Amino acid sequence: MKILKRILGICETRPPQDSGCWRMENDRILLDLNRARELKNPGGAIRLEGGELPERILIVHGADGRFHALKNRCTHMGRRIDPMPKGDALQCCSVSKSTFTVGGDLKNGPAKGALTEFPVKREGDTLEISFK
Ligand code: FES
Repeated sequence: MKILKRILGICETRPPQDSGCWRMENDRILLDLNRARELKNPGGAIRLEGGELPERILIVHGADGRFHALKNRCTHMGRRIDPMPKGDALQCCSVSKSTFTVGGDLKNGPAKGALTEFPVKREGDTLEISFK
């Protein structure tokens, strides 16, 4: 079953259960960490897509204790990305499984380069992810 998911490029990371945990304001995402429960622990992640978003976004609570926001498009063939269970690396959901650091740098696999990482600022329980 796992291989079928990889062939079809179906990722493990879900959109947030509370769809109201984030909003766009000008060129940035404002995300309420109190409502995005999936991000509570290292290794947790959500994906944001559609609406006014200029890109598909993966937000990961990294093992480094930081929150990372990345363009959710592998630089090989554009598949989505998942965090590894401990939150210390990322992996493409395709059969080829390119891996990246939580900051998006390519570790190995056929991907052509790093994932784009967007700046993340934390103000209390709000994350601000900037596209500029
Ligand atoms: S699409 Fe990511 S390794 Fe192929």
